[in-house]
Amino acid sequence: MLVAGTAAAGLTVIAPAASWAAGRQGTSGAPSDSTTAGGRRDPFTLGVASGDPFPDGFVLWTRLAPEPLAEDGMGGMPARSVRVQWELATDERFRRVVRRGAEHARPELGHSVHVELSGLRSGTEYFYRFRTGGHHSPVGRTRTAPERGVVGAGLSMCFASCAQYEHGYFTAYRRLAEEEPDLVLHLGDYQYEHRADSYVAPGGNVRDHDGPETETLANYRQRHAQYKTDPDLQVAHAVAPWLVVWDDHEIDNNWAADVPERPDIPQPDFAARRIAAAQAYYENMPLRRSSVPSGVDIRLYRSIRWGGLANFHMLDTRQYRDDQACEDGWKDCDAAGEPSRSITGAEQEAWLLDGFRRSRARWDVLGQQVFFAQRENAAGANSMDAWDGYSASRDRVTRGWVDAGVRNAVVLTGDVHTHWANELKLDYDDPASRSIGTELVCSSITSGGDGADSDPSDNESVRLNPHIKFYNAQRGYVRTRITRDELRADFRVVPQVSRTGAPVHTRASFVVPDREATLHEV
Ligand SMILES: [Fe+2]
Repeated sequence: MLVAGTAAAGLTVIAPAASWAAGRQGTSGAPSDSTTAGGRRDPFTLGVASGDPFPDGFVLWTRLAPEPLAEDGMGGMPARSVRVQWELATDERFRRVVRRGAEHARPELGHSVHVELSGLRSGTEYFYRFRTGGHHSPVGRTRTAPERGVVGAGLSMCFASCAQYEHGYFTAYRRLAEEEPDLVLHLGDYQYEHRADSYVAPGGNVRDHDGPETETLANYRQRHAQYKTDPDLQVAHAVAPWLVVWDDHEIDNNWAADVPERPDIPQPDFAARRIAAAQAYYENMPLRRSSVPSGVDIRLYRSIRWGGLANFHMLDTRQYRDDQACEDGWKDCDAAGEPSRSITGAEQEAWLLDGFRRSRARWDVLGQQVFFAQRENAAGANSMDAWDGYSASRDRVTRGWVDAGVRNAVVLTGDVHTHWANELKLDYDDPASRSIGTELVCSSITSGGDGADSDPSDNESVRLNPHIKFYNAQRGYVRTRITRDELRADFRVVPQVSRTGAPVHTRASFVVPDREATLHEV
């Protein structure tokens, strides 16, 4: 059961127990780290995070940056490795420490630390913290996934996307943390590439990006650091393990594989830009070694199994896609339906279809970036950046889960800065076509500014596309509760992001019963 308590927020204010330093310093036989992490300044300004939970482990993350906004992207750290100790316990006060160790934060990885643990107990809550140079990190909470096949009592999961730092305060991240979910999915646009004030929310921006439009490794590192200094984002990372995938703004608006947003204007080498962005993304996210970039390539599509309850198929619809048809935008475009076009690339598509065939889970969840269901406007146009611009690719994925006999297919989506709930069809143009899955789309954390409430039935897409059941244009995230019998989705919204401290409420709730693939508003 979800409890909107204060323990999650409390995680950031718990001073790490003094006994950690006093009781164990010098007993490990390890070299001293007392003079290493950038002098007397706190190097843990970016918080802590965890991610990619398996039944026996997860990744613990931090990055040292005593001067997080340094223009060279190095966070005020010296150009040498620094030893960082970590501890893992089964209680928040670290009385029952079950693991401890040390890693080197290296300058070539932006002094990030990725501790990949295995051999832990499945389905178990853990707490972790780091220490270096006499400084202690905040405490993070995480958990292992349930054992293979175990359905269990259910999963509390929140998902979010699109947090333009300048467009508002990250209150929705704090409210998400207060839900104390077991798992958080982030579906992209974790950060934005623009220089200050070049992307302005309708009501004006509330704060500024530091640095130029991100193009170099130094730029991307600085930008990630600026985002991570936000205390609301820090509590959201500290409360639960995250599964992250990127979308476009982690590199460049609407990029597609090797094609930038504006190939027509002169700009620096886009391959070099992708390499820099991928490197900084890995450094700043709780990702496993399997996601260490190699040149432009970073493997972000992957599956995480939550016992027998759910499979999370995390997709990357940016890195391998064909360029947008008909020069992008909203178009009535025949080329969008060409069978040769792909939004996933052949390899990722084969991996996904194989994942459907192997799945024994109650729920198969696709965590991905762009609008999946057909969405047509009054002029008969569709978004060329979404799956509508790659409709044959969508047909192959949809047919893939139907043919594999997937029990419940649910697509989770970000990108559009608005909440939506959709039923998915094999043939969207046939009103009698049965639903074969559902899609939940989360609004943005801040992108677009405060937004506004409205009657969903006034929305053109809802009126014109009968499989689209809900729309809302306020900021927020989606809270889900997944059990053996149903998936419940609560569309959580905050009234504004232009001021701090907004409360959160549920704008609408839908239930998807087991084996029904239909949305029931409750
Ligand atoms: Fe976005």
